[in-house]
Amino acid sequence: MNDKKVGLSDTMRAKTEPKTFKRNPIPGTKFTIAISSAKGGVGKSTFATNLALALKKVGCKVGILDADIYGPSLPKLFSINEKPDSDGQTLKPILKYEIQCMSIGFLTDEQTPMIWRGPMVTSAIKTFTQKVGWKDLDFIIVDMPPGTGDTQLTFAQEINVDGVVIVSTPQEIALQDVKRGIRMFEKLKVNIIGLIDNMSHFIGDDGEKYAIFGEGGVERTANEFKKEFLGKIPIHSDVGKFGDEGVPIVEKNPEHDISKIYINFANKIKNKFN
Ligand SMILES: Nc1ncnc2c1ncn2[C@@H]1O[C@H](COP(=O)(O)OP(=O)(O)O)[C@@H](O)[C@H]1O
Ligand SMILES: [Mg+2]
Repeated sequence: MNDKKVGLSDTMRAKTEPKTFKRNPIPGTKFTIAISSAKGGVGKSTFATNLALALKKVGCKVGILDADIYGPSLPKLFSINEKPDSDGQTLKPILKYEIQCMSIGFLTDEQTPMIWRGPMVTSAIKTFTQKVGWKDLDFIIVDMPPGTGDTQLTFAQEINVDGVVIVSTPQEIALQDVKRGIRMFEKLKVNIIGLIDNMSHFIGDDGEKYAIFGEGGVERTANEFKKEFLGKIPIHSDVGKFGDEGVPIVEKNPEHDISKIYINFANKIKNKFN
């Protein structure tokens, strides 16, 4: 079926065009950076948490807003089991590894699926951005859900997002979605900071480099759209292992080769906002 005929792009236009946006900054924060990927499972949450910790290492005050309402990862990746306090007006972020954290997963239990319609998602995002007591943050890192849906629209239209980093793996099937994501952010006039090639390759015990998902696809896509290519993160089993333990690699072992890559990204990104 032809997308154009069924008018999918028209629906998008109807949602995005008639309004002139009055974008609000998130109170208590200087800069908002969204981490996006059009596809799930490409390592976006892993990137978001390690980038936040790397920004802390380079001297910034950082918060993480887990905006993946249907699949929150922050409770697991940061091993947070407590519920946030509230004074009836605002929710207090949970402080872990010196990072201010908020996730829908703090308010629900792990087993319960979120069965929410679009407007509920939109109102949850508004609560998380306007009714959380974020304090003195240089950066808030927003871990976005995959896709081009209500969360992305709400952020782009209502919140002053200073930039988005797009994470992808190098397979064609992921890149196709990345292109869709880039076009969406361009339409919504959200600044794209750059693209990351995650799980770019694997170094075997033999020291050989294996480009399991093909080589250079993310960089080519960045060039095609005249966006900055920020760099590669190889596959390393420690990334997954430490993530599963609830202590991301940058926190667990800042001297690790992979941690150094995240810290390098943090410096790059920080310097763009100075
Ligand atoms: N560079 C990497 N090397 C090894 N495993 C990785 C890497 N990046 C992410 N992963 C793993 O890939 C899986 C999906 O990552 P996740 O961050 O949850 O993706 P997303 O948020 O995009 O759905 C996790 O098991 C994570 O540990
Ligand atoms: Mg995720």
